[in-house]
Amino acid sequence: MCGIVGAVSRHNIVPVLIEGLKRLEYRGYDSCGVAVHQRGGLRRARSTERVAELEINVAADKVEGSTGIAHTRWATHGAPAVHNAHPHFSSGPAGADAGGARDGVAAVGRVALVHNGIIENHDELRDELRRLGYRFDSQTDTEVIAHLVDHLYDGDLLSAVQRAVQRLRGAYAIAVFCRDEPQRVIGARAGSPLILGIGTGERLGDHYLASDAMALAGVTDQIVYLEEGDVVDLQLGSVAISAGVDGIFHAVQRHVRTVQAHSGAAELGPYRHYMQKEIFEQPRAIADTLDAVQGISPALFGEGAAQVFGQVDSVLILACGTSYYSGSVAKYWLESIAKIPTSVEVASEYRYRDSVPNPRTLVVTITQSGETADTLAAVKHASALGMPHTLTVCNVATSAMVRECALSYITRAGIEIGVASTKAFSTQLVGLFLLTLTLAKTRGYLSAEQEAEHLKALRHLPVAVQSVLALEPQVMAWAEQFASKENALFLGRGLHYPIALEGALKLKEISYIHAEAYPAGELKHGPLALVTAEMPVVTVAPNDALLEKLKSNLQEVRARGGELFVFADADTRIESAESLHVIRMPEHYGALSPILHVVPLQLLAYHTACARGTDVDKPRNLAKSVTVE
Ligand code: M6R
Repeated sequence: MCGIVGAVSRHNIVPVLIEGLKRLEYRGYDSCGVAVHQRGGLRRARSTERVAELEINVAADKVEGSTGIAHTRWATHGAPAVHNAHPHFSSGPAGADAGGARDGVAAVGRVALVHNGIIENHDELRDELRRLGYRFDSQTDTEVIAHLVDHLYDGDLLSAVQRAVQRLRGAYAIAVFCRDEPQRVIGARAGSPLILGIGTGERLGDHYLASDAMALAGVTDQIVYLEEGDVVDLQLGSVAISAGVDGIFHAVQRHVRTVQAHSGAAELGPYRHYMQKEIFEQPRAIADTLDAVQGISPALFGEGAAQVFGQVDSVLILACGTSYYSGSVAKYWLESIAKIPTSVEVASEYRYRDSVPNPRTLVVTITQSGETADTLAAVKHASALGMPHTLTVCNVATSAMVRECALSYITRAGIEIGVASTKAFSTQLVGLFLLTLTLAKTRGYLSAEQEAEHLKALRHLPVAVQSVLALEPQVMAWAEQFASKENALFLGRGLHYPIALEGALKLKEISYIHAEAYPAGELKHGPLALVTAEMPVVTVAPNDALLEKLKSNLQEVRARGGELFVFADADTRIESAESLHVIRMPEHYGALSPILHVVPLQLLAYHTACARGTDVDKPRNLAKSVTVE
């Protein structure tokens, strides 16, 4: 989703801004732009193409300056179009030189602003600003903030921004600069992340803003994570942070951390897409995630975990999308192995519903990015309700979620670029299985023998996943058939039902085929009516306690002329027949079987999408990091 970069420097800052945008591309965007202070005025370039196009435009038009801001936009208010792309300009009411050029490079204006988040009271503010004579050139909520800052500007940009943010309702991270104060950028955040970077060495005295530390990799590793309500004043050689209480701002000190952010410059190597690369990286990602695990101990989750695990009597998992499905698998593990009551909730629902808080609940968030707005809001909501024990399973150690939660397990999937999550999911499952074993041990449900067996199975997982990846050619043959379909059903039972859900999500998000998943026993309660020869039915068939029940469900489909595509464990004795296609998985892998069974479903979605010619890594309408609600 949207990304921000900003800087005040002694040098031309455009290369740093463009490089920062490139590092943020993985989040997903549909337009981008940059604005600098140049020759006493504001200049900008915006594009609905990729950042590489923007780079060509700014070089051709010699957009240069030592103070500037840049943005990747994921449309919320207003279509993905150049006139809606950020930065937005304001140059006063009554059209003086208002709005500047709608396109291309040259533009005039007094205030330039970029924004992540959603301003909920934008309509009301727009009406007010219109009455004051401001003209709107976009449909965005962001342009409202630019005009508001301009309206409140009386020679001091910091004061104008501090007053403006008091009028905003909703979530925002903003970066803003002004024609009349050439070496100053102001940043502010509430509800959306924003970091401050402090230049060192050759860049001493330079200051930077960004949505995440990765945008500044190679520029600085000295990072301040701005807190809710912070306003930061960046100037050459000085920086000051203030925080507002009831409209009065006071200077505050924030901790400067050394953050070794990923460069984000992952190479594709022999792969066609990042998603394919990431699917094939799973053996290594799982091995890395297990690397530091010597045995099962609360210490895996951070200081204080032993005490917390000894106190909790239930688990509440909060997550979205694929992370919600890994939480759904974990519910089965936690209840059967650790014998602890567990509920799993979609974060965007939990945050708004009335619930009954239990202070002895362990609140577990699962998030690849650590920046998902709904999940962050949900855990804050749980804390506010009086549930202090928070833990996250997260792939980004420097993320807002890791800072928000008391305990954490950092998965080591490495950066995931493809919007469709794959290796993040399998490593989340590894982290959640470790959590299950740790709670089981704490609660006296895990013998030393069982611990050793589970650890052995975990350590063998990379090899087991590797052997599943070898099924790719068979899956590709199925994908050819799927490519011409418009609907698909996915079936699973027990802890493989969430795997069926994940398989359906993968297929729909990258191939745009409508796919639904059901617990196989539910089929006869409705979805069976959809089954025809035109509806492929994908089935996850491990050799577990529910196998015989599942086989009956398969008969129900065959009897209605349905075409089955079954991923069956080698020992299931499900054989290929007419309208029954079988890909044989390895022997049943016990409780960890979901981690193997998800892999062919990822491959099926991937190759079906390739056969349909979609933009696999950047599917339409989706973003990697969902930082708005
Ligand atoms: O970063 P998170 O794990 O919090 O993201 C949650 C979902 O947005 C994410 O899993 C989404 O569903 C993926 N695109 C699925 O492939």
